[in-house]
Amino acid sequence: MTVPRVRIESLERHVGQRVEIAGWLQHARSSKHVHFLYVRDGSGVVQVVVAASDVPPALFDQAGGLPLETSLVVRGTVRRHPRRDELELGLDELDVVSRPVREYPISPKEHGVDFLMDHRHLWLRSRRQQAILRVRAEIVSAIREYFDSRGFVLVDAPILTPNACEGTSTLFETDYHGQKAYLTQSGQLYAEAAAMAFGRTYCFGPTFRAEKSKTRRHLAEFWMVEPEVAFMDLEGDIALAEDFLTNLVARVLDRRRAELGVLERDVAPLERIRPPFVRLRYEQALEILREAGQPVRFGDDLGGDEETVLSQRFDRPVVVTHYPMSLKAFYFKRDPSDPSRALNMDVLAPEGYGEVIGGGQREDDLAALEAAIEAHRLPRAAFEWYLDLRRYGSVPHAGFGLGVERTVAWICGLHHVRETIPFPRMLHRLAP
Ligand code: 4AD
Ligand code: MG
Repeated sequence: MTVPRVRIESLERHVGQRVEIAGWLQHARSSKHVHFLYVRDGSGVVQVVVAASDVPPALFDQAGGLPLETSLVVRGTVRRHPRRDELELGLDELDVVSRPVREYPISPKEHGVDFLMDHRHLWLRSRRQQAILRVRAEIVSAIREYFDSRGFVLVDAPILTPNACEGTSTLFETDYHGQKAYLTQSGQLYAEAAAMAFGRTYCFGPTFRAEKSKTRRHLAEFWMVEPEVAFMDLEGDIALAEDFLTNLVARVLDRRRAELGVLERDVAPLERIRPPFVRLRYEQALEILREAGQPVRFGDDLGGDEETVLSQRFDRPVVVTHYPMSLKAFYFKRDPSDPSRALNMDVLAPEGYGEVIGGGQREDDLAALEAAIEAHRLPRAAFEWYLDLRRYGSVPHAGFGLGVERTVAWICGLHHVRETIPFPRMLHRLAP
């Protein structure tokens, strides 16, 4: 008789039946006449009961001597736990697929972050890490669904590029058949080209910054989604960011509550996320920072510490706009009513998480853009194609980039972004 292979998450449909589960031994405990094996299959963990009275002595002994992370296939009958509200498997057959060659290095005891990061390939099996990566997967899926269902066409940007987007200080340089190339910092310039073709577009992929800073918010490789819309101004951009971010949070609350529970995330602050967000112009942000005792002067950029202060101040996200042009990248449009200011916006997540979105309205005037490229000392030739977008049917347009890892860190309530991506790349970490 063949036994159906089932996933632990669907055991409820098989109560009273004999089934097969394939997985790994996550934890085990024994008393004299019974072994309890906690088997994980990626969809959940089930208690497998091996009773001396039910199985031959050789099988009983084998089940009691398995090291953690043994891969195995177990067969038995699904039944309700006698006291707890859960299901268990009464084992009658066991196949060991592979026995670990030595003791599994990650034990329930506390390990240091460096040790866990060195063993990231194994650490992913833990309950907490699985919860975080499931929330990440949900957010990625929600991002795609949000844009796909609103007429945005996905047009992915290249990863190897000849030109910088976000300043030249954080470029990873590589050799491209004898020509200098860079890992992309942002797909934005290409998204702008796509917006002139499709009206509404987004790109979504890995982006790279050779950040020399070691902070809880910076990765060398991170994922960014970048919508770009033709005939949209800064106001439209902010409204899109508000609706989008609200939608992402609602989706995680709707579908990943169990995972947020594993992470002990207080969901009350997330339930308060809805438009309109708090609006601050750059100088109002400085005012608040000064009141909070931060020694900021006009013209200073808002770094991690400043973002933390601002985003602890309100229970909704904060949108900071109109930064001095001197702080911003070459492509921003100047505010017509004060050309020293950029039509830009940063969205800061609450609870001290800081910037999760950066974007704004783009310079759509050919001469002004040419001047900006020159003022930023960027190599003009590499931007000729980008200037073409202003030569042929230029229109006002705007967009933004949302960093996936910072969003996951905020929604999961994590202190550091390093656990929000399967294999983080940071200042001193390229492995595993
Ligand atoms: O503010 P940034 O640098 O904006 C851009 O790259 C624009 N070209 C986007 C656009 O308008 N299309 O980055 C956008 C977001 C930040 O708000 C942050 O969430 C994330 O990307 N980000 C990082 N995340 C992790 N590590 C880093 N080093 C990051 N740098 C930016
Ligand atoms: Mg930014």
